[in-house]
Amino acid sequence: MASIVPHILKGRLLIMALKLSERSDIPVFRVLDIMRVVNERTACGEDIIHMEAGQPSVGAPPEALAYATDIIKNMPCLGYTEALGIPLLRDRIALWYKESYGIDLDYNRIAVTVGASGGFLLSFLSVFEHGDKIALATPGYPPYGSILRTLGMEPVHIETTAETDYQPTIEHLENLEEKIEGLIITSPSNPTGTIISPEEIQKIVAWCDENDVRLISDELYHGITYGDPVETVLRHTDNAIIVNSFSKYFAMTGWRLGWLVLPEDVTPRVKCLAESLFVSPPTLAQHVAYKVFDHTDVLDSYVARYKNNLDILKRELPKAGFNKLSDTKGAFYLYADVNHLTNDSETFCRRMLDEAKVACTPGVDFDKKRGNGTIRISFAGATDSIEEACRRLQDWMK
Ligand SMILES: Cc1ncc(COP(=O)(O)O)c(C=O)c1O
Repeated sequence: MASIVPHILKGRLLIMALKLSERSDIPVFRVLDIMRVVNERTACGEDIIHMEAGQPSVGAPPEALAYATDIIKNMPCLGYTEALGIPLLRDRIALWYKESYGIDLDYNRIAVTVGASGGFLLSFLSVFEHGDKIALATPGYPPYGSILRTLGMEPVHIETTAETDYQPTIEHLENLEEKIEGLIITSPSNPTGTIISPEEIQKIVAWCDENDVRLISDELYHGITYGDPVETVLRHTDNAIIVNSFSKYFAMTGWRLGWLVLPEDVTPRVKCLAESLFVSPPTLAQHVAYKVFDHTDVLDSYVARYKNNLDILKRELPKAGFNKLSDTKGAFYLYADVNHLTNDSETFCRRMLDEAKVACTPGVDFDKKRGNGTIRISFAGATDSIEEACRRLQDWMK
């Protein structure tokens, strides 16, 4: 594809046909577009409630932030770090696996990355080839498919429904019509907040190992769960790649820091890729992340707030006609089936924004085929704004 660019050279009009790459022709990530519009309108004085964004409305614990100020004062030249991150932080992440799951993990298997997003790029590049087929659940996190496509890999969509909590099962895998090289799972899930049970996780891991399928387990929402056990794939295999981040439980979204737990033979590949693609993850963010582990009491209080928000929404949303909600067990999302209210979720969300002043994300962002009948509601915000959103939606739906 080429873009036609008019250009004046020495007084003469030239029409140039400059190439745009096919690989960059990927769909818009709608939620970021919506956030931009909502931010612009909020800056102009509109009172809009953010339920579109998948990010905590509070930041990292204040003590961790104060530490950032100390670092800036004492280390004015914040240089690069090792490509896989500072050893102190990698070691602290390894300890977190011991504290959270009782798993001993060698810190050499950990790579600190530029958000989980940077982690996807490194992991897909390190274990998949051009043309490889990678299965993933739909509805699902939109960038998986976009990153795979831009790297020349082929996403294979597993259409899930509320019957399996929008999660892939062994039956789905056994019924796949094509041979896959990889599988991405997300538990708890964005956009549905549903989880894969520990028993099913174990079966999926075994299936992947038996079928030479590289499992990528996105465990970004671990820590944000509401009672049911959520299992790390790491307990069952050393062949999978675990993706995690400081963006969600640790409430450090804008610091752009994540990590991977890698099979031993993959680590050197990721190291070389990281050196050339990123040089190193952000240095200041790494120091703050090291400190944030000391303040899990604050982070757990955020999780208690999300749980309270979820309870309010489950009680109040049905009164506004949103009565088909996902069985959210983690993360901060409800996925609402609104087929009885609209057949165009984008227009529905736009009207909700214009008329009720509540921003949500249309399901088409997560499921191109069936997402016109669903919306995603994020409840990561403050509880009083969640209550106000319920009042507005009840009035609007009257
Ligand atoms: C499931 C999932 N994976 C990855 C990401 C990206 O995370 P990060 O901010 O660490 O790049 C998100 C962000 O919302 C997400 O929901």
